[in-house]
Amino acid sequence: MLNGQIIFDYNAMMADQIGEYGLTPEALDALQEPLKKVHADLQNRSGKGADFLGFLDLPQVSEATLNEIQATADEIANTSDMHLILGIGGSYLGARALFEALCHPYHNQLPRTQRNGRPRIYFEGNNLDTDALQGLMDLLPETQPASLAETFSINVISKSGGTLETAAVFRLLRERAEQCYGDEAAQHIVATTDASKGKLKKLADDKGYKTFVIPDDVGGRYSVLTPVGLLPAAVMGIDIHQLIQGAKDMAALCQSDDLHQNPAYLYAALQYLSYTAGRGVSVMNIWDKALEYVGFWYDQLCAESVGKEDQGRIPLTGVCTRDLHSRGQELQEGPRNTVITNIALGQSHHTLMLQEDPENADELNYLAGKTVHHMLNQAFEATNFAYASAGRPNMRFILKKRSAYTLGALFYLLEVATVAEGYLMDINPLDQPGVESYKNFMFGLLGREDKADYKARFEQRTTPKVEYQL
Ligand code: PA5
Repeated sequence: MLNGQIIFDYNAMMADQIGEYGLTPEALDALQEPLKKVHADLQNRSGKGADFLGFLDLPQVSEATLNEIQATADEIANTSDMHLILGIGGSYLGARALFEALCHPYHNQLPRTQRNGRPRIYFEGNNLDTDALQGLMDLLPETQPASLAETFSINVISKSGGTLETAAVFRLLRERAEQCYGDEAAQHIVATTDASKGKLKKLADDKGYKTFVIPDDVGGRYSVLTPVGLLPAAVMGIDIHQLIQGAKDMAALCQSDDLHQNPAYLYAALQYLSYTAGRGVSVMNIWDKALEYVGFWYDQLCAESVGKEDQGRIPLTGVCTRDLHSRGQELQEGPRNTVITNIALGQSHHTLMLQEDPENADELNYLAGKTVHHMLNQAFEATNFAYASAGRPNMRFILKKRSAYTLGALFYLLEVATVAEGYLMDINPLDQPGVESYKNFMFGLLGREDKADYKARFEQRTTPKVEYQL
């Protein structure tokens, strides 16, 4: 059971706290019935996009599967000191979020012993950035590694197997692996992809790579609890059993059809009501640098799920207190189109305290005996009180601590909430038809035969007659 590991507080969303811009209990209660229908659609796998609701069952993963993932991860960790994780979107952001949240903030700079024998971790295949990729390739050997410190391994993650960024970068890095390891290259590469259909599966089978399966009924942005997130996490040394346990305990709470008992439905209802009241921008203010990528993971989950049919709120991630010095002004006094979700930690892992300074030239002695985490907490309370005082709606998730367990629970909660919100909006939160449009033109311009008509359309565009040469 979660036993208070996560606290959700939405008082400052409500009219009795923030006045005319808040929500009423009646409005929330009016969503009870629609949410019962949402609940039935989830339970019976009968809602829009139901073929992709497999993520709901992921916490039921078997012990044998987890052990197999762990064994491969340990093998990778024992035989390589640089681990390259290639993937984009849903095949990237969950693993990155786990790395940033749960590994040492300077993991790659630490000696191997202080990394608990785990490899340095690098993410690629998430862009088409020549210089960034070359920078990574500069770190890799060009011949057979002479020591463990020079060894590298690759996990290429792509459900479709056809994603340009990941596939093109993989081709370059695979060649480097073949150059360094010769006939043994396959022992240093794993592929995480679909069970049978895609190009990557065929390539992996031809080359003899070990493969992990992304289930057909789990979409990319809902896949962090499949090998997409679990294998990288296990390589990093993160406790994947705890990650799953957190999700499992959250799944138990999500069995209720009562929005006051089911935190995912409550969060969905609050976001839905805010959106329909004109709050089209939802900011996730993260009060812990290490959780920034949890925000980016959620940006994708939300944007690709609910941003369709001319609807959907625009999610933004902020890190506080850093972004109070950039976005703070607008959130306090800008247009009334924002709703804030705070993610904060009940405790930091370490204690850093300011001491009395007899000279007090910086006039900070009033902080003597106070910890940096205490200062953050006061900034957190002050900021949200200031927002609430100005009628700016905000809510908060407090994670008792940053752990695999609390993150597993949070991931699951936000996934269920996102689908529930999409169902309240009467859209399909599990597809992403809009992302095909740019891809069609891009593949056409890059010369793919089957997209030649898009290239022709592009070439017929009206081009501006005047170029401004500055
Ligand atoms: O959520 C999604 O479906 C997308 O973000 C995909 O994860 C992303 O486009 C990568 O796709 P693939 O795993 O097929 O390479």
